[in-house]
Order: sequence, then structure tokens, then C-alpha cells
Amino acid sequence: MTNVVLLHGFPLSSAMWRQQADALAAAGHAVLLTDLPGFGTTSVLDAPPAMSAMADWVSAQMELLGMDSAVVVGLSMGGYVAMELLRRNPAMVSALVLCDTKASADGPEARANRERIAEAVLEAGSTRSLARTMPETLLGEGSRANRPDLIDRVTEWIDSADPRAVAWAQRAMAARHEAFDVLASAQIPTMIIWGSQDVVSVRADQEAMLEAAPHARFEVVESAGHLSSVEQPDRVSTLLLEFVGSL
Ligand code: MLT
Repeated sequence: MTNVVLLHGFPLSSAMWRQQADALAAAGHAVLLTDLPGFGTTSVLDAPPAMSAMADWVSAQMELLGMDSAVVVGLSMGGYVAMELLRRNPAMVSALVLCDTKASADGPEARANRERIAEAVLEAGSTRSLARTMPETLLGEGSRANRPDLIDRVTEWIDSADPRAVAWAQRAMAARHEAFDVLASAQIPTMIIWGSQDVVSVRADQEAMLEAAPHARFEVVESAGHLSSVEQPDRVSTLLLEFVGSL
């Protein structure tokens, strides 16, 4: 049995990992499927926005469950948290799976855009504007054309996000450090998963991470965009089961 922690993307919740969590648990693994602070059922952190605060919160959840270490799996924002956890608490990360994410930090334009979004959702007191536009970017072209159910599901997830959590997370992501140094120094089993239609974390982002961690296994999920675990759940479950089983 292996401990596995699943960290979701922005501005979603642990629901995006449901199928993988069930598959891992059915195979006998101990799964920590958690909503990151402010999302799903958890409260916004009473701390200045920073990835380090989210990473510390995750390590506290692991400690509560008696998990000294785990395979930490993060999609996009979840990947940023996973890499920050690895920076702060390397002994807690026995292996790493990075899905549709990147190790670079934001440039000034991306930072300014995040601040604009943070202010807009706080002022509106709602995430409706994001729910209208984001699914288009998050889902791959195949999902957008053929899976109205997925568009509806992702729209609903975003619509139900707490604007305070969205603003907090945007500011935390804007302030994040690049993590190539963390990837380069962590000699742990690593797998990088990427949806071939992901336009948010692009192929060049994956290549940059692979350059820092040349020992990493790289898996492309066809017919998926940024939300590979939601768009191709069986394929991503299989990859996780294989990887965790190989450790
Ligand atoms: C995510 O899916 O978590 C976001 O795309 C992360 C980000 O905004 O950088």
C-alpha cells in the first residue's frame, strides 16, 4: 500500500480527481483527496496569499492522517503546490506526478492579469464571469465539441467557487517562485502527464520541466486539454496505478 495525495487545479475542487481516487483506493492505496483551502468544502486560509501557505496546509493534512510521506500528484495549481511542498518538506514527497502544470513563475503580464481577476471576482462577489469563459480554455477541442456534459460540469464547478478563494489563489500563484531548482535537485521518481490539447500549460512548459528532471517519465494523454484527469479519466487512472505500482 502506498500513500497518494491528489491536489486539484484552479478554481476547481477535489471532485476533479474522483475517478482516480476511487481507482487508487480500490487497488489498496491510501488516498488523501482534499479540497485545497477555500475550495470545495474548506475555508480560505487566514494567511497572506502564498503557495508556501497552501503547501504547509497540505503537509498538516498529511500529518493528521499519519502520512509521513506520499506520492504527491498535482494538476496545474495542484502541481505548483506539490513542487512547493517538495521544496519545503522534501522528506514528505516520496514521488511526484505533475499533470498539466509548469515550473516557471509568472511574468509581469500574467501577474497583472491575475490581480485583475482577483479584484473583479471580489468586487462582483461571484465567479460567474470565470465560469462563462474558463471552460473554453481548460477543455481540449474534442471535449468542447463532443462533451457538453463536461462543459456543464466544469462550468458548475467554477461557478460554485468562492470568490475569496479565487482571489487568494490568484495572488498566491502570481507570487510563486519558479521550481526548476526543486525538480533538478529532487532525485525522486517523477512522472509528467500532459494533455496533448492543453493550451494553458503548453508543450514547451513540459519540455522545460523535463530538462530540469531528465529522469522523469513523460506521458502524453491524447484527446485531452488542460483537465486531463477529467477529460480522459481512465487513461490517467491507468497511468497513476502503473506509476504507483512501480515504486
Ligand atoms: C490551473 O488549472 O490550476 C490553472 O491553470 C493554474 C494557473 O492559473 O496558472
